Amino acid sequence: MALVTLRQVLQDARKRKYAVGGFNVFNFETLGAVVEVAEELKAPLVLGIAERLFKFVDVDTLAAAMARAAQRTSVPVALHLDHGHTYEGVMRAVRWGFTSVMFDGSALSIAENLKKTKEITRIAHSLGISVEGELGYISHCDDVTGITTNEFVPADVVMDFVTKTKIDALAVAAGTGHGTVKGMGGLNIARLAELSNAVDVPLVLHGGSKLSREDCRLVIDNGIAKINIATDMSLSAADRLRTELAKSPSANYIHLMTSVKKGVKDLVRKYMLNFDCISRAI
Ligand code: 13P
Repeated sequence: MALVTLRQVLQDARKRKYAVGGFNVFNFETLGAVVEVAEELKAPLVLGIAERLFKFVDVDTLAAAMARAAQRTSVPVALHLDHGHTYEGVMRAVRWGFTSVMFDGSALSIAENLKKTKEITRIAHSLGISVEGELGYISHCDDVTGITTNEFVPADVVMDFVTKTKIDALAVAAGTGHGTVKGMGGLNIARLAELSNAVDVPLVLHGGSKLSREDCRLVIDNGIAKINIATDMSLSAADRLRTELAKSPSANYIHLMTSVKKGVKDLVRKYMLNFDCISRAI
């Protein structure tokens, strides 16, 4: 299957009321796990890496492996840069042949975010690449103190942002956060419903790790077409490593790698089931 854009994959998800998994990978084991499960379950996929990862791994090599793995599958795959914060990061993903980039200008003023997102979208669209924008604060890692619904961006401002930037998908703050601490009073479904009525683009939920099956159905019914998972991939890989080492302390690395990949595959299967994206590949 040829690579698809984020726009293509999310339009179908929105129309048929499921969510595509936006899985962030960080090495060969996680890449293999995600792509193999998508193939096995006939699920469309958004295969991502975050700009934050650039300093930890050889991303040029990883990106080439992602492209190769995506081209070999029979399911639609969008290759995606998650949380691009810099112009250089976004352009690097363009050079890799990614079909989708996220520009996360949520730490900027709304005016500055709009200006930069619009410019990046103009360039990306001229190359046939989709763009995900972000408005409003989605907490990072352990920093969730003091976030209130007052910090949600008003719906008319969101509408203006989407219209002017021409983005293909919008990441919204709706009560979830990245990382291991899930505070902020949980999901705000009313907020999602309000935004999904206000804008004409698929919405993206970040901070998807630990969402229950019921929560997933609820957010999908209220406009979410992609749910991102990163933290749980890393935690389940580390868990698997610890369990395996406790069982066989002298296990060699190849054995450990294989076991880690199996653990991540189980996790990806669980989320794909929750997202209702199984057998949706067309
Ligand atoms: P988690 O940290 O909950 O896995 O969310 C990941 C994410 O939203 C990446 O963009």
